[in-house]
Amino acid sequence: MSDYNMMELFPLVIHSVYDEDFANEEYIKYFHQYRDTFPTEVVSNMGGYQSVSDIHQDIDFVPLATRIWEMIEPCCNEITEQFSANGYRGTQLQLDNMWFNINGPGNWNVAHTHPHSFYSGVLWICAPEDSGDLVFRSPHEHQLYGYRDSMHTIPPETGRVIMFPSHLLHQVTPNKSVEDRYSISFNLNLKVA
Ligand SMILES: [Fe+2]
Repeated sequence: MSDYNMMELFPLVIHSVYDEDFANEEYIKYFHQYRDTFPTEVVSNMGGYQSVSDIHQDIDFVPLATRIWEMIEPCCNEITEQFSANGYRGTQLQLDNMWFNINGPGNWNVAHTHPHSFYSGVLWICAPEDSGDLVFRSPHEHQLYGYRDSMHTIPPETGRVIMFPSHLLHQVTPNKSVEDRYSISFNLNLKVA
């Protein structure tokens, strides 16, 4: 008699945090002032505006960066506790860079990863309905196609942070609304004591 077994291996851990009080017109005013002063960066964005990647060092942005840091603390704690449980005590996550994005109607982001980082994240500051989904693509897409889910779609939600492993391929679908979509992205790296 044969003995059949199956194993599904290796988790891909995505973190999610929501703060219902995050909508704030002051943040959007700041984004507009910044956009009107500095030219856009062009990285994965197809249209729209992307700030420089050290926006967290702008004195006017510091309160918002601090708030985001506090918001993602539970995510960082889960990660560092896992390291600690596996014998890597003193491992911490540090903020490497942060930038904001404005995707207007029709704007989108091509598939990309965030090289040289450990975990990355996005916070939607203002996300109208149908303003562009975040789509994760499995590193095993080739094998999984037609057999298991190889893509996972997360609709944007104002006040929500999604944190994901930086090597995970992702893209943002076109903004199909008639309004701008505002988000902040960031990269975290490991700091080993
Ligand atoms: Fe990204």
